[in-house]
Amino acid sequence: MKRIETGIDGVDKITGGFPEGRSVLITGNAGSGKTIFGLQFAKKSCEQGFKTVYITTEEDSTDLYTQAEAFGWDLHKLNEEGILNFVELASIRARVTEAEMSIDIEAMKGNFSKFLNDIPEDTETVVIDNIGSYTAKLTPYEFRDRFDLLIYELKQRNITTLVILDSATSKEFNEIALFSVYGAFKLMKRENPYTGRRERVMDIVKMRSTKTPTQFITYEIDSNGIKIVSSVDSDEE
Ligand SMILES: Nc1ncnc2c1ncn2[C@@H]1O[C@H](COP(=O)(O)OP(=O)(O)OP(=O)(O)O)[C@@H](O)[C@H]1O
Ligand SMILES: [Mg+2]
Repeated sequence: MKRIETGIDGVDKITGGFPEGRSVLITGNAGSGKTIFGLQFAKKSCEQGFKTVYITTEEDSTDLYTQAEAFGWDLHKLNEEGILNFVELASIRARVTEAEMSIDIEAMKGNFSKFLNDIPEDTETVVIDNIGSYTAKLTPYEFRDRFDLLIYELKQRNITTLVILDSATSKEFNEIALFSVYGAFKLMKRENPYTGRRERVMDIVKMRSTKTPTQFITYEIDSNGIKIVSSVDSDEE
């Protein structure tokens, strides 16, 4: 299976990159770096020549460009070249009336694959940030059903996907979502058992057909984006 580099060196070293045409899930609390991971991956995907679409449900693309600029990433250039496109579901929602919004939510409730209608046929890589915005009225059973179908359709289209699901509003769906995807990462903060200091760690929960560490991997967010610092021993939380 071919792999796509994520743009996070340590992650590529450990996993060999994301499997092409498959979906990887990123979960994590507010501020854990999910969007930065998504942007870093989108940029690297473009640099590898893949037509990439970033679907944003919460922030508008202006904020995402600003965030990327802080790291010295010129997403405007990639956008002008036509290799990177943003789909803003947030601004569409903000513009419609409440009545229309409930129709939109109803549509989403019935069908996550609505996300796919908005992306051009030749798209090779997709980031969905954040599918948790559309889970409000779903039962766990409905969520699993719709999410499975979305992952299935993405695979049928051979689209490599990073699906972001926040842990705050969709806690109950995090575990369910794990089953459908090919790989999954969980981003979190914890207290280092040796130093007593708080640190950012990621757990590679799964990556099929890949040897992955059981230990947490420490990472930092600095002026270049996400950087893997070292792996540390896993402990009981
Ligand atoms: N230029 C920077 N240098 C260092 N750290 C930064 C920089 N920009 C952002 N951060 C850190 O990244 C965090 C935000 O990351 P990000 O937006 O990816 O989180 P998120 O998981 O998507 O959060 P949310 O659930 O709110 O969308 C900030 O809270 C900050 O700690
Ligand atoms: Mg975010």
